[in-house]
Amino acid sequence: MIFLSGRFMPLEDATISVLDRGFIFGDGVYEMIPVYSRHPFRLREHLARLQNSLDAIRLVNPYSLDEWARIINQIIAGNTGEDQSIYLQITRGPAKRDHAFPPRITPTIFVMSAPLTLPPAVTRERGVVAVTARDNRWLRCDIKSVSLLPNVLLRQAAVDAGAAETVLLRDGLLTEGAASNIFVIRHGVLLAPPKSHLMLPGITYDVVLELAAAAGIPSDIRQISEAEVRDADELWLTSSTKEILPITTLDEQPVGDGRPGPLYQRIAQCYQEYKTEVMRSGIVQ
Ligand SMILES: Cc1ncc(COP(=O)(O)O)c(C=O)c1O
Repeated sequence: MIFLSGRFMPLEDATISVLDRGFIFGDGVYEMIPVYSRHPFRLREHLARLQNSLDAIRLVNPYSLDEWARIINQIIAGNTGEDQSIYLQITRGPAKRDHAFPPRITPTIFVMSAPLTLPPAVTRERGVVAVTARDNRWLRCDIKSVSLLPNVLLRQAAVDAGAAETVLLRDGLLTEGAASNIFVIRHGVLLAPPKSHLMLPGITYDVVLELAAAAGIPSDIRQISEAEVRDADELWLTSSTKEILPITTLDEQPVGDGRPGPLYQRIAQCYQEYKTEVMRSGIVQ
């Protein structure tokens, strides 16, 4: 079951206009919310980021937080699987093709669920391969826009190279991954690039920094040079659907000793414990 602009229906019955500005211009924003044991994880934070994305593209939020929570919970209930990933998209809607906003337009609102398929244990144990590329995206990477062509091409570059992710560098500095945030560990310190217009403010990024602080792992949020990335003891990628994964090979070179490092083991355990705790308490924050 999906939700489309006010109605719940089977995916097969859902249709939108070919003139939808999401289709024509990529004029829309989205969110991806992981669901554990039928509880949306960090829902408030995802909806706050959605609001920021909508504000940035000058779209009025069609629903209140309570209304969003009701729709999302109905979609979770209407789909099978304890763990799901909720995809939510709002476009400016259908209109005669013209770049400028039309005066009156009804947004298209779409919510669907897919099974949440987390990386298997062997991937967490061995780590993943990544490559680097120049970050050639626009300068509003903080907006979770459906205009993802640069990210699509950058992720495909990883796949073509037999890798799982592309680590992006802009002007000699680390920004993020094609579809993830990147953390660097050097000399026992967790380094993270500061949130800015050059990266998506990841919900998992925040969780990792909170868990690191609680575990007494020192962290430093600052600009990270390409040299520091290449000379890292550990590299992690984070996202809602991958959680935390160690990058053990970068551009065909081993990261550290080429195996997931000790801080990865610690943070990954903290993350699993945190998930279990919030699911048990029923407050999935
Ligand atoms: C470009 C980009 N950066 C970072 C992230 C991680 O964000 P989150 O942890 O909220 O999933 C994503 C998520 O898919 C992404 O597409």
